[in-house]
Amino acid sequence: MEAAEKIIERKDNKQEQKKLYIESYGCAMNISDSEIVGSIMQKHGFKIINNYQDADAIFINTCSIRAKAEQTIRTRLGQFNKEKKNNPSLIIGILGCMAERLKNKLLDEEKIIDIVAGPDSYRDLPRLLQKVEDGHKAVNTILSKEETYADISPIRLNSNGVTAFISIMRGCNNMCTFCIVPFTRGRERSRDPYSIVKEAQELFDNGYREVTLLGQNVDSYRWSPNSKTQDRLRQIEDDPEAIDFAKLLEMVAKVNINLRIRFSTSHPKDITDDVLYTIKKYENICNYIHLPVQSGNSRILEVMNRTYTREWYLKKIDKIREVLGYECGISSDMIAGFCSELEEEHKDTLTLMDYVKYDFSYMFYYSERPGTLASRKFEDDIPLEVKKRRLAEIIDRQSKHSLERNKLDIGKTFRVLIEGFSKRSNDFLSGRNPANKVVIFPKKHFKKGQYVDIKINDCTKASLFGEVNND
Ligand code: SAH
Ligand code: SF4
Ligand code: F3S
Repeated sequence: MEAAEKIIERKDNKQEQKKLYIESYGCAMNISDSEIVGSIMQKHGFKIINNYQDADAIFINTCSIRAKAEQTIRTRLGQFNKEKKNNPSLIIGILGCMAERLKNKLLDEEKIIDIVAGPDSYRDLPRLLQKVEDGHKAVNTILSKEETYADISPIRLNSNGVTAFISIMRGCNNMCTFCIVPFTRGRERSRDPYSIVKEAQELFDNGYREVTLLGQNVDSYRWSPNSKTQDRLRQIEDDPEAIDFAKLLEMVAKVNINLRIRFSTSHPKDITDDVLYTIKKYENICNYIHLPVQSGNSRILEVMNRTYTREWYLKKIDKIREVLGYECGISSDMIAGFCSELEEEHKDTLTLMDYVKYDFSYMFYYSERPGTLASRKFEDDIPLEVKKRRLAEIIDRQSKHSLERNKLDIGKTFRVLIEGFSKRSNDFLSGRNPANKVVIFPKKHFKKGQYVDIKINDCTKASLFGEVNND
């Protein structure tokens, strides 16, 4: 009798343990959000799995940044459609930026979709799922001025167990004319710093050795116990208890000297000297800044509403080099062929690159996004083949600079945090140096999660190669 009951119990439990597969596209913030979603769903009895074939529900966390990003997701939906034909009860949820941009329209456009959930609605996902199980489609794309998911302890998906992302803020108030993010992610808000420090401490206690603090514009991080709303408040400038990004960096750096800190993305108009001096002061804050320029021409920067000029940006670069030295890694994002860009203005991007000599860049050609200021005010007038040619020139220039910068590292020794095996061979390990460069070296007896000093003896434009110096 007892045994029979247990079997029923087990059977019931098994039925209740629904399986969820989550796939993420777009930026690190989306990867981080998927880890929050995973945590929320786990609390509601779901098991998070790595293969969609066994799933009861598939969530796709989507990106809208360029037309191509959305196209990739539509193609993927076509593949999941086949899955749904075999298993009609399979629930398909679209999360993230594409959900927020297209809202209900997505349900008409893609019949396969059951749930549309914007970036601020993830606490509502269990209810949305229940609604689908009750036979309805479910949508929540309400943006919030306060939601930071501060109290949710993310599960780590596809983790190497060494490096992790921590979201420190959400949204963006900047309104760069080309960009969809302010529309898909809403107003900027900063997360309670004490919850950030707690998360960093927990990660360290669980063996993690590097955290990357994430936000669209980390330098405008601002939080105060005295402000009712977490939205950025100008007046907290005079508030002695206010915590800005430099202070937050310091708080996280103090968690443990063996926990490395990175951060992304910095906005050239907001990064302060205080932040630079804080990086210099703490050995465990990595000597690396991602400082997207977008264009090297002041008129184009104005049309983009980036609120800085070429000269202003270059002064920031000079300041970084002055405080942190030439070894500090600097990377960028660039857009080729923005509305009205003349050939000479494109050349200004190339000469700016020559001055800065970025270690690395993410490079794109302009893709008009519906609803943005640029799509309403300017004509997308640069022919595709010109955009592509300008982009190819930017990529070429970057490849040259990456190799040049990497060659300067030959003969130097860097502290590397080991992240795992190298892609090519299990006889080699791979990690990154403080400047965020990939370093490959012979495995010997070393293990993931350890720090090693590596003397660099060779390089390509993508990686440094070396030998352990403290064997
Ligand atoms: N918050 C970050 C960038 C977020 S989006 C910042 O301000 O730098 C990442 C990059 O995508 C941008 O830096 C930009 O280079 C690129 N991007 C954004 N919108 C784009 C568009 N419409 N077409 C092409 N590239 C775009
Ligand atoms: Fe987009 Fe500009 Fe905000 Fe970056 S700062 S997310 S480019 S609007
Ligand atoms: Fe894409 Fe949204 Fe990030 S549009 S780049 S996933 S904030």
